[in-house]
Amino acid sequence: MKGTRKLLEKAYFSIKRNLRFPPKDERVHFNVQTLYDGHVQITYRGIPAGRCPFDYVMYQMIINDLKPDLVLEIGTSKGGTSLYIADIMNILGHGVIHTVDLASNCRDIVSNHPRIKLFNGGWQSYDIANTKNFPKILVIEDASHMYEDSIGCLKKFSPIVSVGSYYIVEDRIINNLGREEGFHGGPLRAIREFLKSNNDFIVDRKYCDMFGKNATFNVSGYLKRIK
Ligand SMILES: C[S@@+](CC[C@H](N)C(=O)[O-])C[C@H]1O[C@@H](n2cnc3c(N)ncnc32)[C@H](O)[C@@H]1O
Repeated sequence: MKGTRKLLEKAYFSIKRNLRFPPKDERVHFNVQTLYDGHVQITYRGIPAGRCPFDYVMYQMIINDLKPDLVLEIGTSKGGTSLYIADIMNILGHGVIHTVDLASNCRDIVSNHPRIKLFNGGWQSYDIANTKNFPKILVIEDASHMYEDSIGCLKKFSPIVSVGSYYIVEDRIINNLGREEGFHGGPLRAIREFLKSNNDFIVDRKYCDMFGKNATFNVSGYLKRIK
């Protein structure tokens, strides 16, 4: 009797240990680097749409909560994120997206979408007058991530963001991955400089910290206009 109980106890503890410390293929292991490596594989409706998965979830929350009349996206690439946002707008029945790149390189599914308007020539040539009929505007800057582009876009486009809306600076995570030198300081340098001289915006910690401290590629990059 005693021997049977000992055997059962041994089997129980062995199963418990194996569940807590499972074999290699069943272990959980991910971090900022693995997320970054994986994000380049993301597509939306077959279109490359590299973005941190956490940020996708937050984007749809923000768009639903704000219901912006216009989303201005700087940096279109293949238009995966433009399509994602435009589809959400379709479901909500409200809003359009202007997306700006140096040149367009999008499939018909993006360029023919009734809620997407493509602009070429870079952010420098986008005419702010295009935004004047839209009362509620959200800006997403996802261009080169060079400091010069980040700060240039912040200066040019932050004034059009409506109070209560956001200016989202994408990919500040490159600073955490030690790649800032190639970007002349990157978005982090631009955000710090911008916030030093601008009291109209705050970093919205609700989104930055939703899944853990700055568990986003837009580290301190959800800038909310408060006045
Ligand atoms: C990270 S990709 C954008 C990804 C896209 N937002 C998405 O989610 O699929 C960066 C893009 O910024 C563009 N870009 C670089 N310099 C730019 C500029 N001055 N104005 C606008 N876009 C620029 C690049 O051509 C490239 O397509």
